[in-house]
Amino acid sequence: MKSMHKIDLDLIEMTLDVMKYAIGRISATEHLIGKPKKEEELKALVGETITAKGIGGEYAFNLWKEHLAKANVPVDHPRNLAFVPASPTKAAIMFDLVTSASSIHGAYWMEGAGGIFCENEAMKWMVSLTGMPNGAFGVFTSGGTAANLSAIVTAREHWRENPEYEREKGLIITSIGAHSSIKAMAKVADVDILLVDSEERLTGEDLMTTIQHLTEHQRKRLFAVVATGGTTNAGIIDDLEGVAAVCEQENLWFHVDAAYGGGALVADSVRHLFNGIEKADSITIDPHKWMFSPYDCGAVLYKEPELAKNAHSQQGSYLDIFKDEGAHGFNPTDYQIQLTRRVRGLPLWFSLATHGTDRYKEAVERGIELAQIAGRMIEAHPDLELVREPSLSCVLYRRKGWQPEDYTHWTYENHRKGFALVTPTKWKNGDAFETVSRFCFINPDTTEKDIEMILDTMI
Ligand SMILES: Cc1ncc(COP(=O)(O)O)c(C=O)c1O
Repeated sequence: MKSMHKIDLDLIEMTLDVMKYAIGRISATEHLIGKPKKEEELKALVGETITAKGIGGEYAFNLWKEHLAKANVPVDHPRNLAFVPASPTKAAIMFDLVTSASSIHGAYWMEGAGGIFCENEAMKWMVSLTGMPNGAFGVFTSGGTAANLSAIVTAREHWRENPEYEREKGLIITSIGAHSSIKAMAKVADVDILLVDSEERLTGEDLMTTIQHLTEHQRKRLFAVVATGGTTNAGIIDDLEGVAAVCEQENLWFHVDAAYGGGALVADSVRHLFNGIEKADSITIDPHKWMFSPYDCGAVLYKEPELAKNAHSQQGSYLDIFKDEGAHGFNPTDYQIQLTRRVRGLPLWFSLATHGTDRYKEAVERGIELAQIAGRMIEAHPDLELVREPSLSCVLYRRKGWQPEDYTHWTYENHRKGFALVTPTKWKNGDAFETVSRFCFINPDTTEKDIEMILDTMI
């Protein structure tokens, strides 16, 4: 009988086909912007794929190439400027293949020392970008959501060490500019959340005023504040210095969600905007956003990693050996919510080692520059208008006279043509929400011509 785990000629051929495809994808200079199809349409195209005897690798791979791959929108397309796109380096993508091929269990040093060593080298660089004090360290997570959850749970467990709060439901404060994952993860951690009602920069004063308006019981339940280091919608960096000072004075955990903006810590032109981040108790940074890693790769950094260990370290007789003296080393599982984990920081390490950190600086600065260039083009255009000055690599702008449905139609049209993916968003203007258009630049290979062509389709 044929085995799935034994090498034979068919498998060698398949390996070569897959590698050829991967090399083609990595080295291609142009990609199509794919389009989703309805599930029924995809099903009609590919038929039954999971059967008792299998349909064969060659046939399945052809289905992938012919139909399924085309239903994806690659995040690294230079005219994919929606949400927070991505642009993994070729070196990082290649090492993602190596990571997969190496079958490394990244939870414990005993099994994954080589991979975890590399992750930690990359992590040291990330910590150094923040300016956090000696002893601060972090781990790679599946993304910003998991990092935010890991941080919130750490903060809550630390707060609950005080018997006075043991039976209290915790409360955190953030602003409406915070990412949806903060609200979602507060729910998972069963803590209440109070939102400062402004999408503009959250200041220490706003925070202090909000705290002063809490009831006595709410104040007792308040244990953490989440500031954002680059809001997803508009790239706004909260007043981290001011928020840090209030947190220190009020004895609150200070978390900075820099999932998107954290990559910009490397950029000299904007580094000063993050001042105060070094005082954070925890920070989220997603290498799969602006540090050019493939999905998925987030990270959570702690001022005192021991507190995260107290909150997250899992116990079990089958795990004892991994914590034994003889298995000494750093165990990433202890510092976030996941046990079994991919060494997902490995591609970042390889890319950093290959290119050096200066290249990262240049690539991030280019994203910021593209936002400025787009801003100037919009300002120069009689039918277009900036909603606010570009911030980091986000640009919010309006097409004069357009209604929300015009933005939606325009997005679909450009996507249908396989030309670009630029999606609308809403911006809070007083009490009203206005539908506007938004660019988020990550890919340094996006050109001025790309921006010009996209703006031209609005006229
Ligand atoms: C500021 C911020 N926080 C958190 C997240 C969630 O990260 P992920 O999608 O990696 O879970 C995002 C995603 O865009 C973000 O921009």
